[in-house]
Amino acid sequence: MKKKLLYTLMIVALLAVAVVPGVTAQDELSGQLEIFSWWAGDEGPALEALIALYNGKYPNVEVINSAVTGGSGVNARAVLKTRMLGGEPPSTFQVHAGQELTGTYVVADRMEDITFIYEEEGWLDKFPQGILDAMSYEGGIYSVPVNIHRSNVMWYVPAKLEEWGIEAPATWDDFLAVCPTLQEAGVVPLVVGEAWTVNHLWESVALAVLGADGWNALWTGELDPAGEEMVAVWNRFGEVLACSNIDDDASGLSWQQATDKMIAGDAAFNIMGDWAAGYMTTTLGLTPGEGYGWAPSPDTGGTFMWLSDSFGLPKDAPNRDATIAWLKLLGSVEGQDAFNPLKGSIPARIDADVTNADLYNAYLQSAAADWGSNTLASSLVHGAAANENFSGEFGTIMETFREAGAEAAAAVMAEICADSGACGG
Ligand code: GAL
Repeated sequence: MKKKLLYTLMIVALLAVAVVPGVTAQDELSGQLEIFSWWAGDEGPALEALIALYNGKYPNVEVINSAVTGGSGVNARAVLKTRMLGGEPPSTFQVHAGQELTGTYVVADRMEDITFIYEEEGWLDKFPQGILDAMSYEGGIYSVPVNIHRSNVMWYVPAKLEEWGIEAPATWDDFLAVCPTLQEAGVVPLVVGEAWTVNHLWESVALAVLGADGWNALWTGELDPAGEEMVAVWNRFGEVLACSNIDDDASGLSWQQATDKMIAGDAAFNIMGDWAAGYMTTTLGLTPGEGYGWAPSPDTGGTFMWLSDSFGLPKDAPNRDATIAWLKLLGSVEGQDAFNPLKGSIPARIDADVTNADLYNAYLQSAAADWGSNTLASSLVHGAAANENFSGEFGTIMETFREAGAEAAAAVMAEICADSGACGG
């Protein structure tokens, strides 16, 4: 009789565990989860917060944080490519939503279709349709976005502008007008850093000259990459670059060091994605609006050039179940609220409460408002607009420009467009 009661109790206990999915999943998951990204050092706190949240929920999983340092993934993306081609994928990796994901790893059949996660979690209407489209290929969804970053932002220090008697320029003409005044005062008007940050500046200048429609048309084949408009982009870029430190110390500066120069008052302006807000707030401890100010990069007011960091499920990746749990966490409101306030980005989830001032500071609230009201354009340098065959060659176009000028650069760009198939048409 006693034995029977014991069996019954055991069965009841087993059933109880089986019907509470959270309990079983958390208890069962174990082994290693390797998360690959370029969020190391100063870029690390947001990812670390998300990993801490995961560790709390899945204590038996050992998270390996494989971050390869280098802004915009310059080093990490090369390492990743080698690993993916060599059949050694990490459990999951940071990849930009858009062509970097679909035009690179999805077309090569390296990723699992994870639409089932969206269905299980009821997410199909929880992310902006445009972002879902950017992660989709032939009817499947291939990653989960953790954030939305803005590329076209100009940063400055309000107190310094006051000291120099200037205002944040709304147009490149306004900027070019104050450029000599700043140079005479021994201040670098616009600070740039290593190569990719110069490309980053270029996409904001291109957006300024072409407008959102022209920029978007470039990637659908409706705007000639060698045509007059693009030559005008390169010419304007040359004027802007002449007001920078490009021939001085640029190549030795990381994006953080370029930001530091602006904070120190050695430079007036910097065009950088809003991870710079994360750095200035989280790492440097500055208050948005006081320690640093921001505006859309000149001539791009009303347009939000977006990019989104996402994570997917590589085929044959180690520890699939623990990876799915990671993807579910980073796509949840809880995960996005842990990550984004530290990162300088806004949540991709449309139901996250960005008006919550305890979490989202003044910069982030303004970014969220612009995201909701502006015309959208996708970033080239951060993987949304073009595949890696094109973006990997962008340095060649830039070198051509520096050596041979605007028309030569536009002509080379047309060739690379044709070879990579990145520019539609
Ligand atoms: C971007 C990435 C951002 C940030 C930045 C600087 O490509 O999307 O999250 O890490 O590079 O490294």
